[in-house]
Amino acid sequence: VHPPTEQYCVLEARQTPDAEYDRLFQALHVLEDAHPELRTADSPTQRVLGKVLEGFSPVRHAVPMLSIRTETDTEATGAEAFDARVRRELCLAEDLPPVEYAAELKFDGLAINLRYEVGVLVQAATRGDGEQGEDVTQNIRTIGQIPLKLKCHDAPPAVLEVRGEVYMRRDDFEALNARQREHGDKTFVNPRNAAAGAVRQLDPAIAAKRPLSFFAYGLGDVQGWAVPPTHSGLLDALAEMGLPVCAERTVARGASGPQGLVAFHQAIGQRRDQLPFDIDGVVYKVNSRELQERLGFVTREPRWAVAHKYPAQEQLTQVEGIDIQVGRTGKLTPVARLKPVFVGGVTVTNATLHNLFELRRKRARVGDTVIVRRAGDVIPEVVGVVGEARASYVPNFRMPSNCPVCGSTVVRERGEVDHRCTGGLFCAAQRKQALLHFAQRRA
Ligand code: IVH
Repeated sequence: VHPPTEQYCVLEARQTPDAEYDRLFQALHVLEDAHPELRTADSPTQRVLGKVLEGFSPVRHAVPMLSIRTETDTEATGAEAFDARVRRELCLAEDLPPVEYAAELKFDGLAINLRYEVGVLVQAATRGDGEQGEDVTQNIRTIGQIPLKLKCHDAPPAVLEVRGEVYMRRDDFEALNARQREHGDKTFVNPRNAAAGAVRQLDPAIAAKRPLSFFAYGLGDVQGWAVPPTHSGLLDALAEMGLPVCAERTVARGASGPQGLVAFHQAIGQRRDQLPFDIDGVVYKVNSRELQERLGFVTREPRWAVAHKYPAQEQLTQVEGIDIQVGRTGKLTPVARLKPVFVGGVTVTNATLHNLFELRRKRARVGDTVIVRRAGDVIPEVVGVVGEARASYVPNFRMPSNCPVCGSTVVRERGEVDHRCTGGLFCAAQRKQALLHFAQRRA
């Protein structure tokens, strides 16, 4: 009697028309109300429970949730150093036999442990300190991509804990922020903060409106399941059970193992900005579970995995001043003068605030600590202010009524967001920008 939710929510091709889905869903509701004993934990009606919580209960992880060592070296030496370390630990000769590696993305969200008992999702917990996290089952249930029941050909495992990352897609994040803005609510600085806020939201009705996604990347406690002998095989098996697994992954085989990892790091690095979600690096893992077990752990990190990060696209810095730049068409752009900061592979000393409305919306003032973002070749941008309290009163920024370069009157046309200098080519700034513009090769 269950509506085809798995087909509806997990697969890209939604084969059930909305109206038909709603009809089946309503029928199930009526049935469950009449026969509460038939309401199972994996019923689609259980995705939203609608009870506001006072707080989250602690959950002790059956298997600790570890972190991964981060390699900060350059592309080539990072992968080679990892391979060399693995070979040394395994007492292998310098070149043979080659070790097989799995490479995947390092998703920028938050780690979650999903506990399935006899194939049914019974608990979802945050990582916390690795030993003990928080019970966020209610909110995780609202993520349509996460199966409430595993698809299994044979008897489902007695216990299967799936670990992975809850994240927010960039388009979902933009849409969420647009909605927040419309309702005059607080916007989020990045998808990770929005995702973390949604997972720890005490009102599941609000959590349900925050569009979250999930990728599985590993295991926790397992009882009664023959775990596939390789990491890549494990991810394939999890995907077959209906769990979302990212397709951007590879296996580096043969003598060129580490080179395969370097190539993956480079290829993904070039496409990083085109991915539909944020990543902060790639992860290399020894593919064989047997070798993983032989390698074991050092303190809280496995010896068989390493994260290879990309340059951070966001950094914190301070606003030292707000300047006005006059463009070719006379547009006045407020620009934050920043304490120099290394972000997205370059040192950034100023970042656009676009216009007065953007500046007000971001509430940036001189002395504030702000998040600066530089993604790809896009010009650096102030994402928002961190913290609330200002040490002392700082006046709100005002647009000048006269051009700071030529003194002409500044106007803002009705319905426009931009302020403009009316000086035309009398204005030295407009003249200079016009010369630069028309002297371009393409102009
Ligand atoms: S594996 C035993 N794989 O990175 C290894 N972690 O520092 C456990 N993360 O908090 C982690 N993408 O949330 C692994 N493909 C991936 C990952 C990944 C993101 C996060 C994870 C954890 C942190 C590890």
